[in-house]
Amino acid sequence: MTDTVAGMTRYALVGTGSRATMYIDAICGNYPGNCELVALCDTSSVRVEYHNRRLASRYQRAGVPGYLASEFDLMLKRERPDVFIVTTVDAYHHAYIIAAMEHGCDVVSEKPMTTDDAKVASILDAIERTGRRLRVTFNYRYSAAYTRMRQLIAEGAIGTPRLVDFAWTLDTSHGADYFRRWHREKPTSGGLLVHKATHHFDLINWWLDDWPATVFAFGSLAFYGREAAAGRGESYDYDRYDGQTRDDPFALDLDRSPMLRGLYRDAEGESGYVRDRNVFGEQISVEDTMTVTARYRGGALLSYSLVAYSPWEGVRVAVTGDKGRLELYERHQAHVIEDTPADEAPGGNADRSLRLFPMFRAAEEIGIPSSAGPHGDGPHGGDSQMLEQIFAPDPPSDPWHRAASHLDGAASVLLGAAANRSLAEGLPVGLDRLRAALPAR
Ligand SMILES: NC(=O)c1ccc[n+]([C@@H]2O[C@H](COP(=O)([O-])OP(=O)(O)OC[C@H]3O[C@@H](n4cnc5c(N)ncnc54)[C@H](O)[C@@H]3O)[C@@H](O)[C@H]2O)c1
Repeated sequence: MTDTVAGMTRYALVGTGSRATMYIDAICGNYPGNCELVALCDTSSVRVEYHNRRLASRYQRAGVPGYLASEFDLMLKRERPDVFIVTTVDAYHHAYIIAAMEHGCDVVSEKPMTTDDAKVASILDAIERTGRRLRVTFNYRYSAAYTRMRQLIAEGAIGTPRLVDFAWTLDTSHGADYFRRWHREKPTSGGLLVHKATHHFDLINWWLDDWPATVFAFGSLAFYGREAAAGRGESYDYDRYDGQTRDDPFALDLDRSPMLRGLYRDAEGESGYVRDRNVFGEQISVEDTMTVTARYRGGALLSYSLVAYSPWEGVRVAVTGDKGRLELYERHQAHVIEDTPADEAPGGNADRSLRLFPMFRAAEEIGIPSSAGPHGDGPHGGDSQMLEQIFAPDPPSDPWHRAASHLDGAASVLLGAAANRSLAEGLPVGLDRLRAALPAR
């Protein structure tokens, strides 16, 4: 990324919700010797102020200038960031990415890069026009197990990969959270086939070192939402959980933590953003149950599923090649609310295994080094390594290409967007836009 004369890189950030915290802490806490936070921007000044108060209490430093989204251009002119970080709502990423590049900034954007084909095209145009760089922060790539899979496949451990079976389950805690706020509206998140599956599609593209070519998908809202609940004889006729029964396993108490109160409850009056909407309410336009099948340019086939209301959360993956098969199983957490110690509850503690089955030879248990990140060893286990690669003055080498570019960002969004189109139309969809945008591998 850009170096200033003084050796400090100036960062500004838009979207001061919960994810912003990780970047602010990296800049101000881990890499203050070469990184400087110069501005924060959001539609809510209350959320900006929450982060500024946190900077004071955590790092004993002054807050940074805050700007409303309407003052975005002014912020760029006045604060002159080198690099712009985008952690806002998915459907608005493109506008900030493009405008920041037009002001001469490189950009670091949270996943998904954006939410649909047209927005992907506008970002790729801006990169072409401005020559600026965009990095999409696919943190799952830095998890030790997923990197090990990339390494084994690249080294030929299973020969040429021919079939990927990938089943991700979200539990009734994490999964439900996507049905409480903006993620539940397809225009703002692209649905879970974009918002969530972008992580998974990126892993698969990266493991196969290939781009998808054709996709077909089914999806339904089978558990959340008013209609699905009514089908089970249940009815919850309130708009949000505020003041509702606290023993409801889906209730979210916004007074539970200073973060939930400071970022969401206190900002409601200004922004109208309600964080705890009833997951069995109206106006949910995304799916909670999805299957996708795809064919890659090189011929590999994908069978993918995502469900958002499982008792436990994790992934089962099998990649079969013409010389063997790799199998990964990870259980990250379980939503167990009865009074049971976590390690005695079925599925209450994390568990994982990675096995290589070489053709005609005995299976091998693959050791996975513990990345021991702040979120444990699951998909977020590599966050600190990703941040080191982005912000450290002397970043470690990247032999497995974990740093993801705009092309990687585009490929996973275009796969999800094509899946959305397929389930709306009931037909297979060719990724023509991807064919035009992405070079052959
Ligand atoms: N990689 C990961 O594991 C991971 C985890 C969580 C979130 N994320 C991504 O980070 C981003 C933010 O997610 P979050 O959980 O912090 O959401 P959030 O709702 O907590 O924060 C979003 C922020 O964007 C602001 N905002 C809304 N509209 C805006 C606009 N037009 N202009 C400027 N700001 C606007 C909101 O006020 C809010 O402060 C999303 O893109 C999400 O996909 C990634």
